[in-house]
Amino acid sequence: RTTYNYLIVGSGLFGAVFAHEANKRGKKCLVIDKRQHAGGNVFCENREDINVHKYGAHIFHTNDKDIWDYVNSFVEFNRYTNSPLAVYKDEVYNLPFNMNTFYRLWKTFTPEEAKEKIREQIEHLNITEPANLEEQALSLVGTDIYEKLIKGYTEKQWGRAATELPAFIIKRLPVRFTYDNNYFNDKYQGIPIGGYNKLVDGLLDGIEVRLGVDYFENREEWDKLAPKIIFTGKIDEYYNYQFGQLEYRSLHFEHEVHDKENYQGNAVVNYTEAHIPYTRIIEHKHFEFGTQPNTVITKEYPSEWTADKEPYYPVNDAKNSEVYKQYQQLARKEDNVIFGGRLAEYKYYDMHQVIGSALKKVKDHFAETEPAHKDSN
Ligand code: FDA
Repeated sequence: RTTYNYLIVGSGLFGAVFAHEANKRGKKCLVIDKRQHAGGNVFCENREDINVHKYGAHIFHTNDKDIWDYVNSFVEFNRYTNSPLAVYKDEVYNLPFNMNTFYRLWKTFTPEEAKEKIREQIEHLNITEPANLEEQALSLVGTDIYEKLIKGYTEKQWGRAATELPAFIIKRLPVRFTYDNNYFNDKYQGIPIGGYNKLVDGLLDGIEVRLGVDYFENREEWDKLAPKIIFTGKIDEYYNYQFGQLEYRSLHFEHEVHDKENYQGNAVVNYTEAHIPYTRIIEHKHFEFGTQPNTVITKEYPSEWTADKEPYYPVNDAKNSEVYKQYQQLARKEDNVIFGGRLAEYKYYDMHQVIGSALKKVKDHFAETEPAHKDSN
């Protein structure tokens, strides 16, 4: 005898949105998560009265008004605009590459001057067919931007020399000939006022959530609780790694509390020199214009992934894509399991994309199972 309509494995944005929508349609859901908190990677930990983005900086941005209205129906968002900085040899540059960056590099003042400078540098290199990431980047932005702002950062991120990385990793490098430091081009962006946990709490309001429980430790028992499962964990683990392990890049975070009000004056500062082991420092209070007496910063170190580390970025190369395809074929044959989210689909999703994907899967699912049910959205 089953007790719930849906067992939802994982309380990240995919699981939470699915649970919310199913609950809204009168279905009984049980959400389980192996971590001690809900929210997956958007979870914030309160330290010094500051919302610390525990699994990496999260800035919400989207062009989709429906998704923006959806998240704002749970929590109001602030006007935070992502304008990261880059530090290279004691100089501070604005990102994304724009007229402020070019002024700092070359004292160029007009768009024509900056374009001419970049054009000269590219022309001088004579690269016709870029053979690797280094040549690709050089052929797009020239020597100075590449050497100072791309090379070291990229090599740290991937743990390999830029000359050993394939050219296709960098398709374009956005170069902006205006004095606009807003990183994202999307129409809407911001941070939930009071932090991401408010969004997750709103989504999971009225839904039973059990924390600190791993689906795989008691699989048969969990399966008995509901006829349908929404699975947002790792797809290779779901199938006992029978086709092999899918690979990831990982990150390592070091949080520090500083006894001062303001450490770096900006939420995100990248460190682009190769010899500095971290790629960036996040100062969390600036996401919410915090005025607390202390501050919390996080140094972000890229790292190789091993089974005991958090899987952060899927490595979507040919080898892993082949392995994923095999798992996907098994998943397609399942009648009672829906796979969704970044781990089950082995795909990098931004928050707005994972919410969009969950909303679409819910809609399709209910159209299939309850065709007469008129969607209330
Ligand atoms: P998520 O990983 O959040 O949730 C899965 C949940 O399932 C986890 O809570 C996990 O514990 C649980 N689980 C797994 N296996 C289980 C098991 N066996 N039993 C029980 N529970 C299990 N996006 C954006 O829009 N703006 C940004 O600035 C950023 N920044 C960013 C930085 C970094 C470093 C990363 C890695 C990612 C981002 N993102 C982002 C992307 C964002 O984190 C992502 O879109 C969502 O967190 C994905 O939500 P999911 O629900 O798919 O996975």
